[in-house]
Amino acid sequence: MKINFLKLHNFRNYEKVILDFSDHLNIIYGKNGVGKTNLVEAIYALSITKSFRTNNDRLLIKNGCDSTKIEGEVEDYTKNNYEVVISKDGKKVKIDNKTILKISDYISNINIVLLDPVEQNIFTDSPSNRRKLLNIEISKLKKDYIIYLNNYNKVLKQRNFYLRECYINGNTSREYLDILTKKLVSYGLKIYAMREDFINKINDYITDYYKKIFGMGELKVKYISDYDKTDEEIIERYNKNYNREVVMGKSLYGIHHDDLIFYLDNKNIAEWGSNGQQKNAIFSFKLAEIEVIKNEKNSSPILILDDLFSAIDNEKIKNIVSILDNNIQTFITTTDLNKISKKIVNNAKIFNITDEGIKEENYGRE
Ligand SMILES: Nc1ncnc2c1ncn2[C@@H]1O[C@H](COP(=O)(O)OP(=O)(O)OP(=O)(O)O)[C@@H](O)[C@H]1O
Ligand SMILES: [Mg+2]
Repeated sequence: MKINFLKLHNFRNYEKVILDFSDHLNIIYGKNGVGKTNLVEAIYALSITKSFRTNNDRLLIKNGCDSTKIEGEVEDYTKNNYEVVISKDGKKVKIDNKTILKISDYISNINIVLLDPVEQNIFTDSPSNRRKLLNIEISKLKKDYIIYLNNYNKVLKQRNFYLRECYINGNTSREYLDILTKKLVSYGLKIYAMREDFINKINDYITDYYKKIFGMGELKVKYISDYDKTDEEIIERYNKNYNREVVMGKSLYGIHHDDLIFYLDNKNIAEWGSNGQQKNAIFSFKLAEIEVIKNEKNSSPILILDDLFSAIDNEKIKNIVSILDNNIQTFITTTDLNKISKKIVNNAKIFNITDEGIKEENYGRE
């Protein structure tokens, strides 16, 4: 899968940008704060309709403007035009000029894998961020995922509300709660199955990537869930804890408590791993994801390496680029072109961003 061109209108610091990309390597370089991440953020937002840096879509709109428009042509067997418009009234997406009403029909189309240094925080962040990681990654692969997740969250809210009702008026119907519990478990088990399947597939590749790029160690991801049981066992657990849930006024078990633990040589990397090991682990996770996407979608995702040179050394980046097959369109941002090996630079299309704008440069390419 490739993005052929990107067109931005009032996106972050850009008023108007039109860029043609290389099918293989693209390097975006320039000083701090000049708008490098903004560019790859735009590519990401064209895919997910959201930023990876903020949950507030409005920040993507150029200061002082009412809306922003991101357009791009993406090629994956066929060429299609994608468009995301974000305004103060909300978000609209189109494929080939046709409005798509359900976001779930849009976001599973363009697959992107992003590596950025901030993601290392995933180990110290709260579990909700690790679930968010799962949600974003799986919704790219499975259209139904978001639908089940939304259904689950809706029932969870109803169930929590009803538990509080039960506390306030003791004589409420237990039957209604049982219906909600059944629904919750049924949607939750679907999510559980998709998350489990995804992590199993990641585990097929992650150690291999870790070894190839970073050195020794057996890396594994463990998926932790209250729903790793049969539906009868899960419902039984709710029944047994009915009084506790009523007193607490919320659902104490479910996939809204899921978590991931990374183990390096059987030790929890969050508690025991060094800074570098944590970075390498999350990067290996993302690289393993490329393989999972390739298998599932029959096409390579677009890879973004944002500011990776501030996180890992040149040698490892060279490893990453060299083990990826040539078919992966890759975007690399950096403040210093000299940090990237000549071999990579000579094979890339180079975009130099300055205060004057974006300029294409050639180093060794014809
Ligand atoms: N909505 C917006 N409107 C206008 N300018 C914005 C908006 N959001 C961010 N900016 C500007 O974009 C710049 C940041 O761009 P970006 O994060 O892409 O920099 P960068 O080149 O990746 O820098 P670094 O090398 O430090 O990572 C800031 O100068 C900021 O003022
Ligand atoms: Mg940046």
